[in-house]
Amino acid sequence: MGQIEIRRTAGALGAEIGGVDLAQDLPDATIAAIRAALVEHQVIFFRDQDLSPTRQVALGRRFGPLNIHPYVSGMDGHPEVMEIIKEPSDKSNFGGGWHSDMSFLKTPAIGSILHAIQVPEWGGDTLFASQAAAFEALSPAMQATLEGLSAVHSAAREYASGGHSAQKRGSMKVAEADGYVGEYVHPVVLTHPESGRKALYVNPAFTMRFEGWKARESRPLLQFLFDHCRSEAFTCRFAWTKGAVAFWDNRSVWHYALNDYPGQRRHMRRVTVDPWPVAAARERAA
Ligand code: SIN
Repeated sequence: MGQIEIRRTAGALGAEIGGVDLAQDLPDATIAAIRAALVEHQVIFFRDQDLSPTRQVALGRRFGPLNIHPYVSGMDGHPEVMEIIKEPSDKSNFGGGWHSDMSFLKTPAIGSILHAIQVPEWGGDTLFASQAAAFEALSPAMQATLEGLSAVHSAAREYASGGHSAQKRGSMKVAEADGYVGEYVHPVVLTHPESGRKALYVNPAFTMRFEGWKARESRPLLQFLFDHCRSEAFTCRFAWTKGAVAFWDNRSVWHYALNDYPGQRRHMRRVTVDPWPVAAARERAA
């Protein structure tokens, strides 16, 4: 296999990668090049891939251990593979709001790899927003204020009975989060461990309040950030084709699955990559 080709697709984030067949057991050097492209461009796209669930799992595991979603059941025989399906009769979609995957966990996922199995004739694009660009566009004083804050994240709102994701219980196996589902605190500004670039790490789906602040005290500043973070200049948009793959970095990217294709079917498969445990990360770096 020759060198991979990288073509930037927008100013703030996003690149299409060519010259790579993700279904192959790729050499370490190619995996390293893909990882470097992900860190640099924050979301990368591949066209015309043919990944079985087994191959998608194998690909994901080259980047880290795979997450098993606490509320959405995986495929039979492949618990790490989440099927994201909107049937023609469905009204709501999964992921139809700005979010960062799994920020409601103690150890959030670092990346997600989404593969298009069936796409609508039109519509169904995914939007991405660079939270690094969003941080960098703030004033130094606001940046300094935010760097001193942490925020509480939880799945309670999204997966509770009326939550957006829970509404997908029809065509996807989404459990209802009833009772206490846990709250975890993360810094409001994350420093990317590989690039050193800082990014905002709050999102409208899972961030509940600032740590130590009441919810109503948190609301105005969070709302300012939620509006700021989705500014057009920080975004890119991916129009899916059958077989396409998107790989995004959850530490610095929000995403939003558009629900603008009523009456059509859309079927995707996602694996979600967790960080290497500390010991494994040290061994790999040695
Ligand atoms: C998601 O992972 O939130 C869904 C993204 C999509 O289906 O485009």
